[in-house]
Amino acid sequence: MAGGIRGMGESAISIKGLKKDYNVGAGEVHALRGIDMEIACGEFVCIAGKSGSGKSTLLNLVAGLESPTDGSINVLGQRIDRMSEIERIRFRRSHIGFVFQSYRLLPQYTAIENVALPLMLRGVEKRERERRALEALDMVGIAKCARQRPAQMSGGEQQRAGIARSIITSPAIVMADEPTGNLDTATGEMVLTLFQKLFRQNGTTLMIVSHDDDMPRHVDRTIRLSDGALIGEGINA
Ligand SMILES: Nc1ncnc2c1ncn2[C@@H]1O[C@H](COP(=O)(O)OP(=O)(O)O)[C@@H](O)[C@H]1O
Ligand SMILES: [Mg+2]
Repeated sequence: MAGGIRGMGESAISIKGLKKDYNVGAGEVHALRGIDMEIACGEFVCIAGKSGSGKSTLLNLVAGLESPTDGSINVLGQRIDRMSEIERIRFRRSHIGFVFQSYRLLPQYTAIENVALPLMLRGVEKRERERRALEALDMVGIAKCARQRPAQMSGGEQQRAGIARSIITSPAIVMADEPTGNLDTATGEMVLTLFQKLFRQNGTTLMIVSHDDDMPRHVDRTIRLSDGALIGEGINA
């Protein structure tokens, strides 16, 4: 799988002097104030911090959804901060999977259609993409929901579909922005256990954003942000 291209210990993500300012009515918001960070291939890292500390901004910059104000971002050996918008979109579709707090499933589509969407964007034909989507739904334990629309599914089922969608292209890196934020404790635990099962064996690199104190049990390292700056990190047993 794509996750195994680079060896464990090699750098998956390397960030230097990363800054992001937003212009707002009154002036500027310094969302990131100069971040340095190295994440190894296959590592599970939690980005922790209060609301507004810059966690989502960091994820969006690493995924190339936004451009930095200053600094460099190297992902899988490529300088994404130097890419054009088109190059970034291609790069993201090939190498990065996303899981969101709000699931972001399309309401008019069934689970299988939602999961197959990244393959549709790649031009994979319908029968093949639905075969692979069903396989992914089975891996996350909700093959039975294949023909249901999001409104007919529980929050936990919707997030499992979101995870199935994130892995359908076998990305080297998965980014999860508060993936358990809308779930009860037990269901959130199930989602985190699922990440372990799906990603560890493939050597997938996981960046997971959380303000949940339980996260250290599920990741290798926790990096703390406060007010756009890195204020500490801890290696987890
Ligand atoms: N598009 C934007 N325009 C203006 N300010 C933004 C934008 N996105 C984020 N911010 C600001 O940047 C800071 C960090 O936000 P964010 O990265 O969303 O934090 P977190 O995910 O940790 O809650 C906050 O002050 C937020 O209001
Ligand atoms: Mg956020």
